[in-house]
Amino acid sequence: MKKVLIATEKPFVTTAIKKIKKIFKEAGENYEVRLLEGYQSGNDLLQAVSDVDALIVRSDKIDREVIEASKHLKILVRAGSGYDNIDLGAATQKNIVVMNTPGQNANAVAELAIGLAIFGLREMFSGRPGGELRGRTLGLHGFGYVARNVFRIARSFGMKVIVFTRYSKSAAAAIGLKVTGSLEQLYEKSDIVSIHVPARGEHIRSVSYDVLKNLKDNALLINTSRKEVINEPDLIRIMEEKPFIKYLSDIKPDNENIFYERFPGRFFFTPKKAGAQTAEANTKAGLAAAEQIVKFFETGDSTFRVN
Ligand code: 3PG
Repeated sequence: MKKVLIATEKPFVTTAIKKIKKIFKEAGENYEVRLLEGYQSGNDLLQAVSDVDALIVRSDKIDREVIEASKHLKILVRAGSGYDNIDLGAATQKNIVVMNTPGQNANAVAELAIGLAIFGLREMFSGRPGGELRGRTLGLHGFGYVARNVFRIARSFGMKVIVFTRYSKSAAAAIGLKVTGSLEQLYEKSDIVSIHVPARGEHIRSVSYDVLKNLKDNALLINTSRKEVINEPDLIRIMEEKPFIKYLSDIKPDNENIFYERFPGRFFFTPKKAGAQTAEANTKAGLAAAEQIVKFFETGDSTFRVN
């Protein structure tokens, strides 16, 4: 019997859980599904992982301590895209296969990015005169699954879309999207910049002063990615230097209080990361995670392995 734990500090919608359980039930008598939802303490997680063979998580912190407490773990699936919450080195040392479910929640995050852009342009529905998406230039910083969905939606709003990407240039060019020669150029030419790069490698703190100083005086910066890709002191500096720039993010910055003190009416942070928090995204990412686990145990498939 394989024990599968779904450990989500931010739980999936109940219909997604039902469908996940069905996947394991249909795979035979071999799976027992356990739930640890909305847990408050790391100890609850440490106890729950001790005897499981497979683990499904979201942004839950899976550090070395959790990995070491998972005595029988063979596969860990991050139901979502970013796996910066997982200590890959510790998992690899213990021969644990780590996977993500790329693209499954991309539309949900993209819709939030567009929603934040409208909210910012409309002066956060304060009654002050705002602006419209149509005719404005949207700069996509990165061109993965989320950015491609943002592109699709933005085009239907009549926006001009440009992109900076190092790794997906041909994919962008294939759909007629203009790729800028540098990140600085992207920030310079855009009315709205939407960030879609992972918190890994060269992307960490890549949104620095040298990039931000190119923003138009009244630009909107939208971040549905991770706070680690922003150099926060540099963002604060540019918001002081250019008093009409706004920052709207699905991730609270470390120095949230500074934004409240210095930039009233110029920022918005979701209270809890909300990009992938839709019934559709929960279901797609959760089902993909369950299917990947069944395939892994039944056939040895490790297609979405990231370690
Ligand atoms: C992701 O990386 O997939 C998104 O940031 C969603 O994260 P969440 O599952 O914690 O909402």
